[in-house]
Amino acid sequence: MSLAAIIYNLDGVITDTAKYHFESWKWVSKQLDYKLSEKQNLKLKGIGRKESLEKILKWSGSRISEAQKQHLLQMKNQMYLEFIDTMTPSEIFPGFKKFNSSVKENGIKVAIGSSSRNAIRIIDKLDLVLDFHAIVDGGMTEHTKPEPDIFLLAAEKLQTPTSSCLVIEDSQAGLSAAKKAGIKGVLYGEDKGLKGAQLQIKNWEHAHLDKLNDLF
Ligand code: G6P
Repeated sequence: MSLAAIIYNLDGVITDTAKYHFESWKWVSKQLDYKLSEKQNLKLKGIGRKESLEKILKWSGSRISEAQKQHLLQMKNQMYLEFIDTMTPSEIFPGFKKFNSSVKENGIKVAIGSSSRNAIRIIDKLDLVLDFHAIVDGGMTEHTKPEPDIFLLAAEKLQTPTSSCLVIEDSQAGLSAAKKAGIKGVLYGEDKGLKGAQLQIKNWEHAHLDKLNDLF
């Protein structure tokens, strides 16, 4: 068995959108008379929009109608998109493009597997649309992370068995989704307390393809 495909998460692995999500969720929380902390925002990493709102409602002890939920979700996304629309390729994490090019030069396929329904818009703003063989976003599957659907669909689109794929993730929801999909997971970033990663890449400038190959 050898490494044939890498599936990257987008938010937190290729660029930092968590700060934009945080600003938008803080606004939503304020409407509920609640102050969302940075630590709580970390718990929203990787999970879908609706699921994130449900967590905030639980933390704040709020009970609102389905119509109010829909309204808040719409407002949250509108605010988030205003941030996204200011993004430029300068927000791609340093070293990512070089690493991804070397992966492709070695005949390994690459995909994005993101819970975000805005993934394609973000990739477009970063001018990365042509850098991947497949893109799977949160609107394409029934369940988002921590369920395995997104990664299973990405492997299918890449026509690669899951046993030859590798997922690169920054969140617990993402690593759990990879495990459920039967795909090896690598943690990206400085986080220490996450479970289920076979290896950690602190940043793209220190990433080595050889080390990823060694996992197979
Ligand atoms: C990513 C982020 C999550 C976000 C989810 C949905 O996985 O890490 O924080 O909730 O995408 O994003 P969306 O753009 O669809 O609201």
